Amino acid sequence: MIPSTYHHRDRAQLPRLHVAIIMDGNGRWASLRGLPRRQGHAVGAVALRRVLEAAPSLGVSDLSVYAFSADNWKRPPEERLELFRLFERYLLEEAARCQQEGVEIRCIGWRHRLPESLQEAMSSAERQTAGGRHLTLRIALDYSSRATLAQAAAWATPEDAGPLATLSRQAIDYSLANVYGEPGRRLPEVDLLIRSGGQQRLSDFLLWECAYAELWFTGTLWPDFEASHLAAALDEFRRRQRTFGALSTPGATRTEVAAGGMR
Ligand code: IPE
Ligand code: IPE
Ligand code: MG
Repeated sequence: MIPSTYHHRDRAQLPRLHVAIIMDGNGRWASLRGLPRRQGHAVGAVALRRVLEAAPSLGVSDLSVYAFSADNWKRPPEERLELFRLFERYLLEEAARCQQEGVEIRCIGWRHRLPESLQEAMSSAERQTAGGRHLTLRIALDYSSRATLAQAAAWATPEDAGPLATLSRQAIDYSLANVYGEPGRRLPEVDLLIRSGGQQRLSDFLLWECAYAELWFTGTLWPDFEASHLAAALDEFRRRQRTFGALSTPGATRTEVAAGGMR
């Protein structure tokens, strides 16, 4: 079995995994302590830093985190404002550190509805960390997977013209890369989706990319999430057999089975 931690010299041989995280439970964490919800969000940002530090040595090359869903606009305006302020501060503080660590920050979601100063912090963090090769951190802000897919379908070019025009999976993949603002660079499929906070649902996160993701749920509230939770999730992930619709193939590696399935 692949151990859950690695020495740096082993990094070249590590699988490159895409882990997505629905960071849920900040509000309940705060309420349990009689604190305002914003404090739960602030401590949640510290948990993200812990996870980010641990991820590369656990074989993670892509980390996508759900920070604010398009449906989170339904929250009270004060909470939204506090969240936007927190995101802005986080991006300004993290950009330099991420640049040093070779972590590339990318933001996905509808930017234009967010406060201008936050949009600027997003663009500036992306510029500053561009080309980081150690890990790509994608932060989903004002994100809806359904809206993203609808946009990708609208931009995609059908295979054949006419009323029976079909959109291939490749055409959607290509178009999605444009919607995500990463032309020509397809967002990798999610290998492992983690949700903290006890709910077992996707809440409109990366629906297309999670088609064959392994799902891992924990009741731990996000501010209490430690690197050890990520390691435990990855250990379980590595024990699961992924067949991508094929029959199980004894001895085949994950990647070989995946390749057979036109990944
Ligand atoms: C997740 O925590 C963070 C955001 C949605 C912004 P919540 O704020 O949903 O926390 P709970 O689920 O109410 O505890
Ligand atoms: C999902 O959490 C969104 C984020 C973690 C940013 P929510 O708390 O908003 O989702 P639901 O309402 O439980 O589905
Ligand atoms: Mg929640």
